[in-house]
Amino acid sequence: MPKAKRRQIEVEIGDFALRILQFGFRDYHFGMTILSDLRRDYSLAGLTEAEAGDDPFALFQIWFGQALEAKINEPNAMVLATATPDGKPSARTVLLKGLDDHGFTFFTNYDSHKGREIEANPAVAAVFLWDELERQIRIEGDCTRSTTEESDAYYRIRPLGSRLGAWASPQSAVITGREFLEVEHAKLQSRFPDGDPPRPDNWGGYRIVPHTFEFWQGRTSRLHDRIRFRRIGGAWIKDRLAP
Ligand SMILES: Cc1cc2nc3c(=O)[nH]c(=O)nc-3n(C[C@H](O)[C@H](O)[C@H](O)COP(=O)(O)O)c2cc1C
Repeated sequence: MPKAKRRQIEVEIGDFALRILQFGFRDYHFGMTILSDLRRDYSLAGLTEAEAGDDPFALFQIWFGQALEAKINEPNAMVLATATPDGKPSARTVLLKGLDDHGFTFFTNYDSHKGREIEANPAVAAVFLWDELERQIRIEGDCTRSTTEESDAYYRIRPLGSRLGAWASPQSAVITGREFLEVEHAKLQSRFPDGDPPRPDNWGGYRIVPHTFEFWQGRTSRLHDRIRFRRIGGAWIKDRLAP
């Protein structure tokens, strides 16, 4: 091992040992990387009140366009949090598939874990993280089911494999093994030989109708910009939040 590399390791191990003494806890480390050391300073852009404008849907569309231009991987992926009526939360990623002046639409199985939670408690939150742009958007609102026409229209444009997948997978149920899915999928191919399965009744869209948005732009020294919009009465009220 070259001398310089060895010295570097000694310094880092020394630093690691020192931390154990200082903080009294064993920091998680992966090779020479120490978890609590992982951080970045954000300096790409800012967000002023003027840039944020008065309409959070319009700002969302501007930012989404910029995320597409930046070729972010799956810019329409959002982490969706739901909760039971007594407030036990759960979260998972879903894909935004529709956007209009009223809300954000995603598609799923209505009998899934999230579907059952939404039916019992429509209050949800979602987060988009566009790390490459040092941006995060949070939305909070209530979910309503898409109309059957909307769900049918989206189901029809999905690839056949995904349309059959919606039939094959009892989403969120415990299954005996991977084979179960493959057998079900194969059975469905013979059940719908014309390759045109109808939309299963338990699969469709939910529209999140937001009452709150927050646009977060990372800034240097953790002095990030946070602009929040809340719908109060018929108007959007804008505030700046401390980071
Ligand atoms: C990038 C990504 C996109 C996903 N998109 C969807 C989606 O649009 N709809 C969906 O039901 N599940 C989607 N999933 C799977 C969900 O995260 C989750 O595993 C599934 O919906 C079951 O969640 P539940 O048991 O909490 O209902 C996606 C997962 C990833 C990683």
